[in-house]
Amino acid sequence: MSERTKPSVTVLGLGRMGAAIAGAFLGTGHRVTVWNRTAAKAEPLVARGALGAATAAEAVTAAPLVIVPLLGPGAVRQALGPAAAALPGKTVVNLANSTPDEAREIAAWVAEHGADYLDGAMMALPQTVATPDGFFLYSGSREAFTSFRPELEVMSPAHYFGTDPGAAEIHDLAVLGTGYAALAGFLHSAALLDSVGTPPEVLAPLAAQWLNGMAAFLPELAREAGSGAYAEGVSTVDLNRVAVGNLVRLSAAGGVATDVHDPLKALLDRRAADGHGQDSFSSVFELLRARNTQGGGTRVRGPVG
Ligand SMILES: NC(=O)c1ccc[n+]([C@@H]2O[C@H](COP(=O)([O-])OP(=O)(O)OC[C@H]3O[C@@H](n4cnc5c(N)ncnc54)[C@H](OP(=O)(O)O)[C@@H]3O)[C@@H](O)[C@H]2O)c1
Repeated sequence: MSERTKPSVTVLGLGRMGAAIAGAFLGTGHRVTVWNRTAAKAEPLVARGALGAATAAEAVTAAPLVIVPLLGPGAVRQALGPAAAALPGKTVVNLANSTPDEAREIAAWVAEHGADYLDGAMMALPQTVATPDGFFLYSGSREAFTSFRPELEVMSPAHYFGTDPGAAEIHDLAVLGTGYAALAGFLHSAALLDSVGTPPEVLAPLAAQWLNGMAAFLPELAREAGSGAYAEGVSTVDLNRVAVGNLVRLSAAGGVATDVHDPLKALLDRRAADGHGQDSFSSVFELLRARNTQGGGTRVRGPVG
């Protein structure tokens, strides 16, 4: 069996993520063409062996696989628009953060211009690109995911969520939302400790250890929320209402903003007022979930590849 030839790769957009991605492909010996609106950002990559393109159209022409880690859908439209004539036969992997509908709209535009489309979401930081600590989510063309999987895996472990181009984005936003709540909680706690003269560096390792334990608790929360069986949970609404109430009162008394935890306190208060104080904390899910379930996309039950 003949060895697979490494396809050339184009990276459109050399911000923090794009530069890390282009660097990863240089490290694996791919022929890499790069383009960025602000041309100076290409220079360090060109010095490492990348080919610098003067325009996005020239960059798209240079390779069958066009990876687009730009800021958002507006930037993607502005970069790809003038390159439309070069798109037929290409595979576009759009890694910009967007809503599912924005991803579907760009997917349709790319398809109209004769290219295959894969939407992607980067669950990584610039420094965790091409390391086991990052992972990317994809949806859209199955053919693109399968043919270019070795290249996708250069960037990070790759998970495929089916043919709806919006599916990667809703899963991305869901995972990001989990992290944002935890990170906002950390910043609030840093402010609380700051009010008594303790620096944030003291909190970081303690909070990290606590979050590791909480991560291990997620499957149990998921089981309860998924089944609606809230009676046996180890951590009740009433118990957490006391703790969150204390946190909010202590913060307010010390002049620390309570904006991060006020919404959770309100949810726990409502749950208790509805007679569910002895249900598991996870039963807050009942106050949050949409009644019309689907949200306009294909129903996805997890990664499929
Ligand atoms: N940074 C992270 O930790 C991280 C983690 C996961 C996912 N992401 C996602 O990755 C994507 C890129 O993030 P980043 O951190 O790499 O951002 P960044 O460093 O701010 O880079 C933004 C990139 O988009 C380009 N750009 C912005 N507006 C443009 C326009 N109108 N036309 C053409 N190019 C435009 C910038 O070009 P110029 O250089 O010319 O400004 C630059 O190449 C975002 O969707 C972000 O949500 C970021």
